[in-house]
Amino acid sequence: TIGDGWAFPLTRFMNEMELLESMQMKTVTDAAGKRHLLSVPITMHVNAEQKELIGENKAFAIKYKGTLYAVVHEPVFFENRKEEICARTFGSFSPNHAGAEPIMKQGEWLVSGASMSFTKRVTFDDGMDKYRYTPSEIAAQIEARGADAVYAFQVRNPLHNGHVLLLKDTREQLLKQGYKNPILLLHPLGGWCKDDDVPLDTRMNQHQALFDDGTINPEHAILAVWPSPMYYGGPTEVLWHASSRVGSGISHFITGRDPAGVKHPEIANKDCYDVWHGQKLLVHMKQMLGGVEVLPFKVAAYNKVSQQMEFFGGPGCNKDDFEFISG
Ligand code: ADX
Repeated sequence: TIGDGWAFPLTRFMNEMELLESMQMKTVTDAAGKRHLLSVPITMHVNAEQKELIGENKAFAIKYKGTLYAVVHEPVFFENRKEEICARTFGSFSPNHAGAEPIMKQGEWLVSGASMSFTKRVTFDDGMDKYRYTPSEIAAQIEARGADAVYAFQVRNPLHNGHVLLLKDTREQLLKQGYKNPILLLHPLGGWCKDDDVPLDTRMNQHQALFDDGTINPEHAILAVWPSPMYYGGPTEVLWHASSRVGSGISHFITGRDPAGVKHPEIANKDCYDVWHGQKLLVHMKQMLGGVEVLPFKVAAYNKVSQQMEFFGGPGCNKDDFEFISG
């Protein structure tokens, strides 16, 4: 629990009721009856053979490459309703949707338990562990720097100059509002993403290079891996992008054009989601973000005349002067 009494409502994989509520309502209800925004499934799947093996046991272990990471107590199994989970999360069903592909390959069962205990900190030994902090460690860094505003930026791509324009503009807006020490939390996605997305180590090296060459002033920013997988869930996922970071002590969350967007799985050259729905929904739902303010941005594009990235739109703006960059 950090700041304002905000607690992440789950300390284990979702049980059947939590998954059902999350799919239908985009919330989970805690033991005290309080509802929290939680818009994506967080589940553990097993196949029939693994289910059989666990059988009536009171607990089972989660090991990865021979190392024990967690124990699930009093396991409970329920059906992995993959098509329903995909349809509810992605707004339609196609096995070719980027986020549906790994779900469709899962086992037939989901498993949760009365509780889950963790044995050790998860490390990957991939050179990126130095960027992996828990939410309370991020909150401690924020406090140590004396930040009076922290603006989080979710990103799954190398930063382009459009992203950098959003970050610079945010800092200027916050300074104008009277904040004295706003800090950026550059929080790139570190979990699973599709094969043609840029791998984490390349992205982290690129982000670090921007810190090192001063494009992003390291005194005004924290670089950390956000451990979630990518869902490619458009507006549904954007709620998760923001709600999952509230516990790190952020005060602001940036959202631009087509966050968590992906191409339509069945129709060529079509976006799967309305490119402004994610932002509109997040602004509308911000009262569920524990006091975090949402900072919406117009599309940033390259102005060929002035030869720089600018926000597109407004009076006198000529579309032919701009080149649009995505992803
Ligand atoms: S995401 O899948 O992580 O959301 P991406 O890495 O492409 O997407 O973008 C990170 C953030 O920058 C999102 O808030 C997205 O809306 C925003 N963004 C990306 N490109 C632009 C752009 N050209 N103009 C405005 N916002 C943008």
